[in-house]
Amino acid sequence: MEHTKGYKRILVTSALPYANGPIHLGHLAGAYLPADIYVRYQRLKKRDVIYICGSDEHGVPITIAAEKTGVSPQEIVDEFHFRNKEAFARFGMSFDYYGRTSSPVHHKTSQAFFLKLHGQGVFKKKAEQQLYDPKAGMFLPDRYVKGECPQCGYAEAYGDQCEKCGTSLSPTELKNPVSALTSEKPQLKETEHWYIPLGHFQKQISDWIATRHGWKSNVLGQVKSWLSDGLADRAVTRDLSWGVDVPLPEAKGKVLYVWFDAPIGYISATKEWAEARGDPHLWKTYWQDAETKLVHFIGKDNIVFHCIMFPAMLMAHGDYVLPNNVPANEFLNLEGNKLSTSKNYAVWLEDYVEKFEVDPLRYYLATIAPETKDSDFAWQEYLTRNNSELADILGNFINRTLAFTNKQFNGKVPARSDLDDLDQMMLRAITKAPKEIGSAIEKVELRKALTVFMDVARTANKYFNDQEPWKTVRENPAKCATTINICLHTCNTLAVLMEPVLPFSAEKAWAMMGHDTDVHAQVWDGVAKIELPAGHQLGKTSILFRKMEEKEIQPEIERLQNIQAQLRGDVPVEETQEEMKISYEDFAKIQLRVAKVLAAEFVPKTDKLLKLHIQLGTERRQIVAGIAQKYSPEQVIGKKIIIVANLQPAKIRGIESNGMLLAAEDDNGNFSLLALDKEVNDGAAIR
Ligand code: MF3
Ligand code: ZN
Repeated sequence: MEHTKGYKRILVTSALPYANGPIHLGHLAGAYLPADIYVRYQRLKKRDVIYICGSDEHGVPITIAAEKTGVSPQEIVDEFHFRNKEAFARFGMSFDYYGRTSSPVHHKTSQAFFLKLHGQGVFKKKAEQQLYDPKAGMFLPDRYVKGECPQCGYAEAYGDQCEKCGTSLSPTELKNPVSALTSEKPQLKETEHWYIPLGHFQKQISDWIATRHGWKSNVLGQVKSWLSDGLADRAVTRDLSWGVDVPLPEAKGKVLYVWFDAPIGYISATKEWAEARGDPHLWKTYWQDAETKLVHFIGKDNIVFHCIMFPAMLMAHGDYVLPNNVPANEFLNLEGNKLSTSKNYAVWLEDYVEKFEVDPLRYYLATIAPETKDSDFAWQEYLTRNNSELADILGNFINRTLAFTNKQFNGKVPARSDLDDLDQMMLRAITKAPKEIGSAIEKVELRKALTVFMDVARTANKYFNDQEPWKTVRENPAKCATTINICLHTCNTLAVLMEPVLPFSAEKAWAMMGHDTDVHAQVWDGVAKIELPAGHQLGKTSILFRKMEEKEIQPEIERLQNIQAQLRGDVPVEETQEEMKISYEDFAKIQLRVAKVLAAEFVPKTDKLLKLHIQLGTERRQIVAGIAQKYSPEQVIGKKIIIVANLQPAKIRGIESNGMLLAAEDDNGNFSLLALDKEVNDGAAIR
């Protein structure tokens, strides 16, 4: 299916990431990399396409992050807007514009949008009882409140959504709610808000959804289940101070709901893009002309907002196109576990780009894109994919072809003569590749596109092997020249076809082919036909994909394993020490033994410490114990005590201590050395 038929231009968006934390691999695999591949492909197809993204700078996660770190929300978003923009750029994200929702254009645009709907009488104004935290002196919208999910019982559901089952919630639906700010039990208090009655759009949305052929089944499934439950009123305003002010005199102290203003951010960013191009009205063509194909790339947690809420807003407004497709991805796991930002269980993009090459990550993430179900990122597999596919297949083919040409043909393209069956077959493979790969990308089936792509490189390697140019160079030079000519054409084709997924390597390969043009400006459809005239001088050759070693990824694996171990409680973490459990193995590491006190004396200039000489079977030791306020030296001399015998030696007040004595103390200050019930020889082990 040619999805782009009938459209003059394409407007692609990726979900605006919240500017309250850095970007991790889960973000990339869901809403960003697939979109970038799609857009780069469309550019090579010479289609009129723009790619819009930016920071989502409002919403409760941002104010909560600000409160936690004791800075202002503006400082938080300023930091992460630029950090994320930079990290995306280093990852090769080719946004035409990266905006931010704190911009004045955005505030104006979303207020105007609200006022238009308000003027048309779209909203319902309702006074309702809402959760209020008397201690914090504020209402508790969205993530300011946590509690039990009424749908699935998950205990940590937020006031706007249960992250376990994906259900969208309102705070008052939570069971046993608590304030995220003070952990207080909230009270109910009346407040006034504006609601969009989604029920009024139920039919219009259902009819529209019914025409969405080719949408992913996970997306349609979620939308249809929402529709069959019946759409309810949804508040589009909040009692908060951070956000876009509700532009009505009677709405003092209220801001637009973040999910009302953020998607309008796509529009504001397009406006800013048009302004920056010196054509301020151009944004309208992309948003308001029916011949625009609007495609939203998102993660599955954003489906309801992009397939119901925002479309309802656009329908209500009336001037806008509706999304043509919303290819939402499922989630990416990491080494078999759920990613968690708060637990630092993630691979952060800004760290990754400091240590590793970008293209192998783009490649691996695209091959495991969570298109139809959640998928798993594993460092070991990342390394294998790099080494055995990028390096051994794609890189190897290009590098061996170029090396051979350099050696045997002075780095110049040899002429082609009669073609045999294998030659024909290879040429057919590269001729049909653009169409096959292209139609998979068109349908956002990236895994499939990459399989087809890598198969072309596989075929090419086999072709090189089967033609044995290292033999024909002596036995049949004309045949050798033909083989290499075809191999070089194949390299040329691969260099362009890899561009959407491997943009940095594509540039490198293209330059190695001796072109001084821009690989990003090539034409997808004509790529197999690009002429490489005989005698064309190749560029300088270098390794396209470096093989990676285990030791490069080992620290990454260990870091993640350590976090998992801490989460399981195998390793002590400060905050969780109270409830820490240890394994028997851990316990068995501690050697407890019976010791007899031979001599004891006060440690000078302290009132707490006794220095003890002790006997452990045949061994004598000295320990320092903090018992001087409870026991005098006379009271302990001759006693059998229990010590930890394998504690690392320590110096206490300059005196060496080789073990630790055990004692018990209760809340009333009653203190006792541990004693034995029957006579046991010193040195005995305690089990
Ligand atoms: N910030 C949201 C998230 O990370 C996505 C917003 S998408 C937009 O889940 F459409 F609202 F911009
Ligand atoms: Zn739930």
